[in-house]
Amino acid sequence: MKATLKVNGRTTTIDVEPRKTLLDALRDDLGLVGSHAGCEHGVCGACTVLLDGDPVRSCLIFAVQADGYEITTIEGLAPAPGELSVVQDAFCETHGLQCGYCTPGMILTGHALLQRNPDPSRDDIVDAISGNICRCTGYGQIVEAIEFAADRLRKANAPRDLTGSDANQPHVDPAAATDAPQQGVLEAAEADTPHGGRS
Ligand code: FES
Ligand code: FES
Repeated sequence: MKATLKVNGRTTTIDVEPRKTLLDALRDDLGLVGSHAGCEHGVCGACTVLLDGDPVRSCLIFAVQADGYEITTIEGLAPAPGELSVVQDAFCETHGLQCGYCTPGMILTGHALLQRNPDPSRDDIVDAISGNICRCTGYGQIVEAIEFAADRLRKANAPRDLTGSDANQPHVDPAAATDAPQQGVLEAAEADTPHGGRS
């Protein structure tokens, strides 16, 4: 059976068995192995992808059911080859991963949260990632990573006074704002951070 999948902005038609999961189609047919197979029955969240911006478990969806949706995998978050999105970078800065198995799902879940809530409380973040299991980190640094990304994105989206002390801020490239909750800015990696990030 044919399924036309729009993944990370690229549309591909594949031949799949009706029972093939979206997770297997992404990995086997499209070579997008950033979506991980963990439990394969809807518990761990390692297979999380975004469907029209909402996190879903790709192990619980047949590939043919995803036909017509905008699918985003971890490979689609980076603004350009060799670059990281703000959320991805925040996970690096805060050491929000160890083995990395849960990380694509965590990052996509955090990304989706910040798209709809640019100023989440700690409880909001904990609630958002409650369906994603991490066996390594103890979750503290994952929560910190999402808080950190939210902080960067808010700063990046704040209006700047170009006549005052912000006049020497670096140029902002709107095209890089893949994690921005609204249209706006970026180069958030340049923002001052309590983590001693890039300067
Ligand atoms: S692999 Fe899909 S929820 Fe665990
Ligand atoms: S970093 Fe190992 S499972 Fe989360």
